[in-house]
Amino acid sequence: MNFDKKFDRYEENAHIQKVVAKELINLVPKKKYNTIFEIGAGTGVLTKNIVKNIEYKNLIVNDKYFESEEYIKDLPSVEFIGGNIEKIEIKEMDLIISSSVFQWIEDKDKLFEKISSATDTLVFSIYIKGNLGEISDHFGISLKYLDMKELKTLLTPYFKNIMEYEKEFKLAFDTPMEGLKHLKNTGVTGIGYTNTQMIRSYLSKQLTYRVGYFVCEK
Ligand SMILES: C[S@@+](CC[C@H](N)C(=O)[O-])C[C@H]1O[C@@H](n2cnc3c(N)ncnc32)[C@H](O)[C@@H]1O
Repeated sequence: MNFDKKFDRYEENAHIQKVVAKELINLVPKKKYNTIFEIGAGTGVLTKNIVKNIEYKNLIVNDKYFESEEYIKDLPSVEFIGGNIEKIEIKEMDLIISSSVFQWIEDKDKLFEKISSATDTLVFSIYIKGNLGEISDHFGISLKYLDMKELKTLLTPYFKNIMEYEKEFKLAFDTPMEGLKHLKNTGVTGIGYTNTQMIRSYLSKQLTYRVGYFVCEK
């Protein structure tokens, strides 16, 4: 993953992530929140949706990359905490929320356990098995995406009520190269290291995104 210094290009190319964040915000249980914690804010795509749609007193926003702070620092009552969420402590919160981030988490079980000790309500979206199948089929490169059942199994020890569903989005491009550029700009790297022959023989003009949405309550 390399979002470093790519945040501006992310903002321009994150079409699916923007649609996903908008949908996620509508799943948040409607009430007044004292403290909300967002994991992996990036350029603030979800953060801006929180500010617009949810009543809160304090919004604490995290990202692994400290550049993220630049994008969210002017939003009302927002505090930034930089660092890898797998390594940092999470304080008690009324709501923990995250969009398009958890597919990057190495030890999801450990993170879910840490989150459940800090909150009663977790709302998140995640890319799931089959995501960007065009890329894994051709280049053999993929994150270790989990399916909905595997994710639910991981969450069940920590949350009693889990509502979940999945959705598929297809993005069309004029050329296969446009699709690859789009991925690079949204932070999905790795393809650059493969040989040019592989890139030339990539023929797909579409990318399939598979997204899981979860609302978890204790
Ligand atoms: C695809 S972007 C999503 C950004 C934003 N939430 C959105 O909806 O557009 C993924 C973000 O997660 C952050 N991220 C990835 N792994 C992380 C980790 N372990 N701890 C904190 N942030 C992480 C990245 O730096 C990046 O900003």
